[in-house]
Amino acid sequence: MYIQSLKLLNFRNYQNISINFSPKINIFYGLNGEGKTNLVESIYFLGLTKSFRNNNDLNLIKKGCTYTKLLGHIKNEYENDYMVYLDNNGKKIKVNNENISKLSNYIGRIKIIVFDPNDLKFVKESPSIRRKILNISISQINQKYLYYLNKYNKVLKQRNIYLKQFNKYEELDFNYLDILTKQLIEYGYEIYHIRKEFITKINNYLNNYYQKIMDKNHNLKLVYSSFYNNLKQTELLKLYQDNYKRDFIFKQTFYGIHKDDFLFYLDDEMLKDWGSEGQQKNAIISFKLAQIANIKENFKENPILILDDLFSELDNLKIKNILDLLDDNIQTFITTTNIEIVEEKIKNAAKIYFIEHGNIKEV
Ligand SMILES: Nc1ncnc2c1ncn2[C@@H]1O[C@H](COP(=O)(O)OP(=O)(O)OP(=O)(O)O)[C@@H](O)[C@H]1O
Ligand SMILES: [Mg+2]
Repeated sequence: MYIQSLKLLNFRNYQNISINFSPKINIFYGLNGEGKTNLVESIYFLGLTKSFRNNNDLNLIKKGCTYTKLLGHIKNEYENDYMVYLDNNGKKIKVNNENISKLSNYIGRIKIIVFDPNDLKFVKESPSIRRKILNISISQINQKYLYYLNKYNKVLKQRNIYLKQFNKYEELDFNYLDILTKQLIEYGYEIYHIRKEFITKINNYLNNYYQKIMDKNHNLKLVYSSFYNNLKQTELLKLYQDNYKRDFIFKQTFYGIHKDDFLFYLDDEMLKDWGSEGQQKNAIISFKLAQIANIKENFKENPILILDDLFSELDNLKIKNILDLLDDNIQTFITTTNIEIVEEKIKNAAKIYFIEHGNIKEV
């Protein structure tokens, strides 16, 4: 799939711009702070209604304005017009002029993979950051996932609130706690299985990409760590019940998929504690490439790819290896401050835009 055109109103430092893109490579260059990341961020926001920069949504609205609006025309087998509008009261989403009220009916229509310099740290980050990445990755390809996740989070919240209501353990209504716990297990189990399947699929590609980028023989794999691992629903219920007292004392739910993590292992060592910076970065890039391959396998089409400032993070050879691994038919957005270092071969195949102070010129 690819985005054919984009119109931005009051998005970050853009007031009102319309652009047509190449279905292949698009390069945006310009000095620091001119709006390169803002532009690719807008494409991501159109697809996922969230930013990949960990920001408050309202920061996306141009300073001094009350709303922002993004319009994109997306082509794949079909052609669709997408609109995301954001103001103080929240978001409105439209597809072909029809309102979409549920986010889970929207996410996944436009598939986007981003390489963002901040991602290059996620091996070392906390499990919650990795879970977030997992959630975004899976919700793009599995319509039911976001639905189960919302249900799970609701029950989890309800359960934790219930635990806080009593001073004495004996006062709890254990039948009610059983009901909440069973619901939690029911939704958690669905999420567990979807996550497990996703990680298995990613592992089918991961090491192959890693070896090609690194040019060395290593074995990289992702390991899914979950309390739900290999337990039947009845065994899980028993586990929860045996720990009701502990949950009551701490006023929170100790077990569950809200504690899941996924970890990279390189040659059977945990990459987080053992790998070099470069090994960690390339593991993440291999993960992204594996995601692209997985999307292609499942949907018979490529996602849109955003490479934000990758040139400042990786040497030219690695970038060449990465681009060589990509299908020619994947629409790619590259941002860089230094157009000189981009290989001629890539530049010749690309539409190139110069960005200055929220203005875009095709060159
Ligand atoms: N809500 C907003 N309204 C107006 N301007 C904004 C808003 N949010 C961010 N900006 C401006 O956008 C600029 C940052 O743009 P962006 O992050 O796209 O830069 P960049 O071209 O990617 O730079 P770099 O090369 O440093 O990554 C900053 O100058 C900032 O002041
Ligand atoms: Mg930037």
